[in-house]
Amino acid sequence: MDKGKLKILVPRADIAIKVQELGRDISDTYRNIEEPVVVVSVLKGSLVFTADLIREINVPVQLETLVASSYGDGSESSGKVRIEYKSFDDLKDRHVLLVDDISDSGRTFQSIAEQLQAYEPASIRFCAFLDKPSRRAVTLKPDFIGFSIPNEFVVGYGLDFAGYYRELPDVAVVIPEE
Ligand code: IMP
Ligand code: MG
Repeated sequence: MDKGKLKILVPRADIAIKVQELGRDISDTYRNIEEPVVVVSVLKGSLVFTADLIREINVPVQLETLVASSYGDGSESSGKVRIEYKSFDDLKDRHVLLVDDISDSGRTFQSIAEQLQAYEPASIRFCAFLDKPSRRAVTLKPDFIGFSIPNEFVVGYGLDFAGYYRELPDVAVVIPEE
């Protein structure tokens, strides 16, 4: 596969500052709840972001994971979302924060939120590291957003293109080679 050239869109220093701000906002939101907030990291894309984010949250957190993937390996989300998760028996009456790398059409978030409603949580909120508002196809929007970006395909800081680039510390746009 041709991996193309990279143009940095969000440098790592800006990411670090933004993650601190998000941690503060999230901590303020959950300041007065009794039990730890259940942070559900949507793998694999949000692994890097979640690891940084939870260390900037200063209220107790319970960390859970699920795996969500839209079918196919291309740079367009197919709209069909497959979700794998273990049984979250203890989500009843808990405050759930879904953490994902990017909200594109928003279908992944909507689909997960619909399925987690079955566990009767007290609330479900959504934190997206990146948001492409111009692409939104559902009415739900993220409660916490790191950066709103234009409609470009980005990689790095956990985000991949067909499995590549998750390890980049910055967020970058892939420019196909001529
Ligand atoms: P949505 O369901 O359309 O919101 O798609 C969200 C998912 O599509 C994300 O969790 C990513 O896995 C993937 N995705 C959307 N845009 C990008 C991008 O620019 N780079 C990498 N992955 C993306
Ligand atoms: Mg994803």
